[in-house]
Amino acid sequence: MSSRNATYVIGHKSLDADHEVIIALWRTLETTKTMEAARMAASQLMDETLNHFTREEAFMRQCGFPGLDGHRAIHQELASSLRHVILAPTFDTGKRADFIGAVCALMGRMVTHIVVEDAKIAPYARNLASQVSRAMAKTG
Ligand SMILES: [Fe+2]
Ligand SMILES: [Fe+2]
Repeated sequence: MSSRNATYVIGHKSLDADHEVIIALWRTLETTKTMEAARMAASQLMDETLNHFTREEAFMRQCGFPGLDGHRAIHQELASSLRHVILAPTFDTGKRADFIGAVCALMGRMVTHIVVEDAKIAPYARNLASQVSRAMAKTG
């Protein structure tokens, strides 16, 4: 699966870059060799994901995306599942493969979210970009 696949692109530079980073971190997590490395990668993945959700919600507000409340609820559910898996005490002594499996199952849901739900932001992102360029043409 290529992270350059057009289905990931919503047309907002930093949100698209966030998605690339999240997927790259997921790949890194999968290749870790120790539980400690896996936990470090997962914790970085969680930070990037939570920061991304905040940025994406701010952008949806900015471009008047009508599905903001529902989308935010999905983010909250994904964030709490991720937190639950990453902070679960059972994984302190558990097997790295089980831990990675649990995070990967969630990341599978995350990719579906990007392709299905985040993609709905694309027309609003395009609309906002064309409003901005029209306004710049008027003032320029
Ligand atoms: Fe996103
Ligand atoms: Fe999202």
